[in-house]
Amino acid sequence: MESSADQLTGASSATPPKLEIQSHGSPVSLFPTVCFIVEHQGTEPMNDELVRFCLEQEKNQPGLQTGSIRGYHSNRQFFDNDNWAVQKLKELMMGNARNYLQEFWKSESMTPLSNVKDLALQISAWSVMLREGDFSKPHIHPISHISGVYYVITKESDQQSQSDEGNLVLVDPRIRASVAPLKDQKSNAMFSPKAGMVVMFPSWLDHFVLPFKGEGLRISIACNFVLSPSAIQDD
Ligand SMILES: [Fe+2]
Repeated sequence: MESSADQLTGASSATPPKLEIQSHGSPVSLFPTVCFIVEHQGTEPMNDELVRFCLEQEKNQPGLQTGSIRGYHSNRQFFDNDNWAVQKLKELMMGNARNYLQEFWKSESMTPLSNVKDLALQISAWSVMLREGDFSKPHIHPISHISGVYYVITKESDQQSQSDEGNLVLVDPRIRASVAPLKDQKSNAMFSPKAGMVVMFPSWLDHFVLPFKGEGLRISIACNFVLSPSAIQDD
């Protein structure tokens, strides 16, 4: 029988029951940043023609001043040229973007992609040519949804893999994740470009290119893809 003092304080003298609590934990990945890597094989003839085309374009057309790139940046109508290699690359990049979009969409939207009617991708592209000491500062691609870069030529692969120079760096967008860093915490993701390789990422993701050193030329074709209005929240 509880004393009058126990009643006043709410304390109980009863023995705690034997508890049988079951627990099940499972990882939940929240706010992932889904990117996409493609390795194309058999691109050598196309790349050879793209190198020739890009060098000619650089000679004949002044580059754009973007503020983020030290090197040559062509106009953004690269895919408007009817050169066969340019058109082949456009076709490849449209296919890559459609494949990437399937994965990107799953992590970004609660609506199945199949429910989006009249889905279309509007593409724009430009060449970037880097030589000794050239680089690109951290930047995003505004007014675009997904972006990608195709590597036409890099400093030759055996040498390239030994160092970070000319590498593409995608910046961890979780800025607060670095306030109490863990040992060897994963932060920025770095990619060593190879001819025929494609890296695709959300256009809002900060990225940059480490300075390219030594002799040689690094040519990449960057692309932006804008989704059709039917795929965009309109309110
Ligand atoms: Fe970029």
